[in-house]
Amino acid sequence: MRVSAALVVLALAAAAVPALADELCGLKPTPSCGGHDYSGVFRTHERGLDFGELPGFTRSSHHADHALIGVESRVYAGQRGWKKALTAHIVSPARGANFAMYLVDVKEDGSAEPPKAGVERFVLVLQGEASVVRGKKDSIKLSANTYAYFPPNTTFTLESEDGAGLLVYERVYLAGGKPVFSHGDVEESPLLPTEPEVFKLRKLLPQTADYDFNVHIMDFQPGEYLWVKEVHYNQHGLLLLEGKGIYRLGDSWYPVQAGDAIWMAPYVPQWYAALGSTPTRYVIYKDTTVDPLLG
Ligand SMILES: *[C@@H]1O[C@H](CO)[C@@H](O)[C@H](O)[C@H]1NC(C)=O
Repeated sequence: MRVSAALVVLALAAAAVPALADELCGLKPTPSCGGHDYSGVFRTHERGLDFGELPGFTRSSHHADHALIGVESRVYAGQRGWKKALTAHIVSPARGANFAMYLVDVKEDGSAEPPKAGVERFVLVLQGEASVVRGKKDSIKLSANTYAYFPPNTTFTLESEDGAGLLVYERVYLAGGKPVFSHGDVEESPLLPTEPEVFKLRKLLPQTADYDFNVHIMDFQPGEYLWVKEVHYNQHGLLLLEGKGIYRLGDSWYPVQAGDAIWMAPYVPQWYAALGSTPTRYVIYKDTTVDPLLG
């Protein structure tokens, strides 16, 4: 009784003096609320929760057969071979992977020497522009959403006038064939059949035994999910470019969003469902064609 009477009085007071509503701590951000702001209590789902701002909180998780590395966990540093550029290694042989996957923040006038002898390199431009320099007067411009593959022992270098954001995959070449330099636009790469899967699939490298890995671009509409619950010897390095969903890795189910990177070791059970209201696109490395007995 007392409580409801108090509420009536409060409601009447609020109606009589509209400014009073603003003083109810928490209904609106009111710095004047005794010098405090209680608006966090009633924040709506629409506004979202700032998990990334929670001290010590991260969704990043590292296990023997997989890792999830969130945006908040990347560490950039200088690397030999790259000038005016910082690299953040996400996957590397340090954890048993047969490849390296890293992001590069190329500054103005940044550049990259060719990789070490015997190492092949794949570059996907995510932001800005870069150029592949093949000779004194021979360069190829790479804008966002284009890629280039450098075969082992290439002499081609990479430059950026105004800066660029790159995703790089590298590995020691094992296939024993004759891979060649190639480049292209992701959108111009043809869609490949995937039945019984429903996602859209592109492969950015030729599917021949000259290549020992490929890079896939996979697109899902919200609600679409992987049909096959894959478990296989091939390794993966994945970067979620757009959208959100749930990635299953072994017995862990991870809410993931654009910017998250995933390492999948051989034989980790893996599955994805695209959720939310926007499509998912991810890019994923997969080693191919090399006999597991020799790789
Ligand atoms: C790359 O060059 C090295 C010598 O520097 C050679 O031993 C190796 O076979 C070459 N690799 C390929 C794939 O051509």
